[in-house]
Amino acid sequence: MNYKIAVVPGDGIGPEVIEQALRVLDKIGDTYNHTFEYMKVLAGGAAIDTTGGCLPQETIDICKSSDAVLLGAVGGWKWDTLPGDERPERALLGLRKELGLFANLRPAILFEDLAQACPLKPEIISGGLDLVVVRELTGGIYFGEKGLKETDLGPAAYDVELYSEEEVRRIAVVAFDMAMKRGKKVTSVDKANVLESSRLWRRVVAEVSKDYPEVELNNLYVDNTAMQMVLNPKQFDVIVTSNIFGDILSDEASQITGSIGMLPSASLAKGNFGMYEPVHGSAPDIAGQNKANPMATILSAAMMLRYTFGLSKEADAIEKAVKDVLAAGYRTPDLMANGGKEIGTKEAGDLIVDFIA
Ligand code: IPM
Ligand code: MG
Repeated sequence: MNYKIAVVPGDGIGPEVIEQALRVLDKIGDTYNHTFEYMKVLAGGAAIDTTGGCLPQETIDICKSSDAVLLGAVGGWKWDTLPGDERPERALLGLRKELGLFANLRPAILFEDLAQACPLKPEIISGGLDLVVVRELTGGIYFGEKGLKETDLGPAAYDVELYSEEEVRRIAVVAFDMAMKRGKKVTSVDKANVLESSRLWRRVVAEVSKDYPEVELNNLYVDNTAMQMVLNPKQFDVIVTSNIFGDILSDEASQITGSIGMLPSASLAKGNFGMYEPVHGSAPDIAGQNKANPMATILSAAMMLRYTFGLSKEADAIEKAVKDVLAAGYRTPDLMANGGKEIGTKEAGDLIVDFIA
């Protein structure tokens, strides 16, 4: 089969981790007889520098005409002084909205060979950790009405959290479908003791749950969830939540695995279309030094094969190669806390390519 992939290398370490992911995809193509065609496009700071805007129309068009999007990272110090709506990060929000990527899957997996990197006590994580945050990605306070206004107390600003029943329903369906393929447990996170939008959220999720009698549904407030995540993270299988709560909780979940350099993500639209990117950012402090861990991007490519292209055997092969490289003791600098054989970005790519049978 022939697959067209729009590739957004982006800023900072983005280009170097993307380069390794494309090498791994090429190896998969050779091994399993697929052709991956890459169309490199600009977004973020790289786009600002060449076109003046963070998300050129051409990028949107090419992404829309491709089968999937693979993104490195956007942002960096260089553009930190730009006004809010001109910053590189706006490109991400624009892509999510333009491409209809309403479902963000952020797995937090503790790799057996990296368990020492987890900041929690061994007894809390014994037996491993494998949860996924399903974050609503195109609604809520990120995209609600916002503005500045004069009030009795002086100048003020506001951002509105608004969710339609339909937006909640479709993300709940993604979460329950996912739970059916995993541990059959959904935790819906809200702040229903305070927010009207959360009360609607909770009601709609309960309605959707009736179609999934095998799945256990729990409702938790977001403050309690933040606490439970470090007290007893093993209780979680699928967490479904709003855009902003998902932003916060997915960072927390990623840190308890101790290796943010390992975590992939998928942002899915209706149908099989998706954008895939590592959870880590552009890390400008180590850009261009062959120090970045490309595994999160490589695992994002694996998610793309699995979710958008339906190539689960090929996705398994990538995930296994990554685990084998870790099991053989190789570590990029971010994973070196407890020793190992230190390797750089490119060597990590070489090894994973070699380990793919
Ligand atoms: C994320 C990031 C983005 C978000 C920023 C960069 C706009 O934090 O993907 O989690 O808040 O969604
Ligand atoms: Mg975030």
